[in-house]
Amino acid sequence: MISTIPTYLEAFSDYRLEGDELKIFTYPSPVLKKIAKPVIEFNGELKSLCRNMLYTMYKAPGIGLAAPQVGISERIFVMDIDYKREKVTRADGTLDFDLSGFNPLIFINPVIENNQGEVLFQEGCLSVPGIYEEVKRSQSITVKFQDWNGDNHSIDADELLSVCIQHENDHLDGIVFLERLSLIKRNLLTKKFLKKKKKKV
Ligand code: NI
Repeated sequence: MISTIPTYLEAFSDYRLEGDELKIFTYPSPVLKKIAKPVIEFNGELKSLCRNMLYTMYKAPGIGLAAPQVGISERIFVMDIDYKREKVTRADGTLDFDLSGFNPLIFINPVIENNQGEVLFQEGCLSVPGIYEEVKRSQSITVKFQDWNGDNHSIDADELLSVCIQHENDHLDGIVFLERLSLIKRNLLTKKFLKKKKKKV
């Protein structure tokens, strides 16, 4: 077991922000409700899926993205809670964003243990755009997972990293953050989201 976070900067550096933008499925798509299957094969296909998920997450932009959110029911999520996003004006006058300081993380077949304490964080989700609410999570956790080569890792996480891992891990079990709220809040926000979504279509 390796206790450091594997780094993917080589594969995904500040200088090579590339990949395919994947379609993000929004609530209540059936794929978001399924229990995702473990990853068994660690191959090139898995690596390009991870790369494309990171690319899609940075583009969105978000700080975490789980495979079910892009329609793939497998136990994978990607995350970056460190990168910076700066608004810039291009030479032709168009507004754009410069991203820097990447710290891409990839969790495959994660298992959360040693949940300790409680913390409230305001959460949002790329599959429930426009809705933000405080969710109660464990303050600190240990997460065991595999990297994209299939090697085993274990890290301790607290605060934002811990919250983010719990949020993304929920997606692998078919749970969106709305389902972690009190019934009243959950019903209210779900209605609000679906109404907004209907208007857009
Ligand atoms: Ni989410």
